[in-house]
Amino acid sequence: MAEEKKILFSGMQATGNLTLGNYLGALKNWVSLNEDYECYYCVVDEHSITVRQDPAELRQRARALLILYIAAGLDPEKNCIYYQSHVSGHAELAWILNCYTYMGELQRMTQFKDKSAKHAENINAGLFTYPVLMAADILLFQADVVPVGVDQMQHLELTRDIAQRFNGIYGDVFKIPEAYIGKVGANIKSLQNPTKKMSKSDENPNASIYLMDDTDTIIRKFKRAVTDSESEVRYSPDKPGISNLIDIYRAATGKTVEEVEKEFDGKGYGDFKLAVGEAAANLLKPLQQRVAELSKDKAYIDGVIKNNAERANYTASKTLRKVQKKIGFPERIR
Ligand code: TYM
Repeated sequence: MAEEKKILFSGMQATGNLTLGNYLGALKNWVSLNEDYECYYCVVDEHSITVRQDPAELRQRARALLILYIAAGLDPEKNCIYYQSHVSGHAELAWILNCYTYMGELQRMTQFKDKSAKHAENINAGLFTYPVLMAADILLFQADVVPVGVDQMQHLELTRDIAQRFNGIYGDVFKIPEAYIGKVGANIKSLQNPTKKMSKSDENPNASIYLMDDTDTIIRKFKRAVTDSESEVRYSPDKPGISNLIDIYRAATGKTVEEVEKEFDGKGYGDFKLAVGEAAANLLKPLQQRVAELSKDKAYIDGVIKNNAERANYTASKTLRKVQKKIGFPERIR
């Protein structure tokens, strides 16, 4: 009998415009993983409402993200691509896990601290328990591996702690997930402040390359990228701006740091920024074309949404029933 594939789970928020950071740090690296893993990629619309959303816009962005997954090369026959809100097990398991997570653990989450500073007018309980929903996402599918950027590692650590705590009480219920960090481009920084991550919620549009930006916009943003007063293209912790551009360039072209440094030896930042801009634009153009094509095919996309939600629900309900039984919820009468 063929050996069963390990399970992989990841997700993205349908909030804001996705950036080159999301693509290079996450999505792009996911494409070939289904050869080795049984893959679940979720559009985490339930996470998105921790910050106030316009309903029509959320719906539209969630669909755009699902289409983007497919456009990036995730075959929905081989990868389960679905909306979190179509699988009620996420919210149900999150409630249960809330009761096994400590306030102190959640208070330590840096994303909570950042987001509550940013949305001081709406520090809701969901924003606080957001990492528990993320833990539920992962544990519901008994994921072995979770590909995420470094900014999500703290949440993954918490997921492991919650799972271990739960297993300590009830036996082996959850698999303990491991992080899966892509080879390159795991941490793309803001073009305007290279000590911060490139974020879709950045207020300065020049700080981020959005996946739907046109070539001129991309090149202009790279031209304006903050660097330093030297002129040498060299990867170094004291050159965060240039190092970030090198990271982007090598993630877009597949070159190594040494190759990039050599290619731009003796050339100025102007040439380098232009080359990075062109490489990024060339990378995104086919993706944008594919998004446009797929967006026209409503019947196909609707079919993917329906079939994959069914698949995801089937798998999720197996874990959920097991958990409910372990903690003592009454059995269902059939
Ligand atoms: P989100 O939507 O903020 O980001 C989606 C993915 O993109 C990665 N990422 C980056 N990688 C490199 N450089 C950057 N500048 C950059 N910005 C974002 C993130 O690390 C992430 O992998 N809570 C999660 C979504 C989520 C999830 C999950 C992920 C919910 N449930 C379960 C994995 C498993 C989030 O907000 O990611």
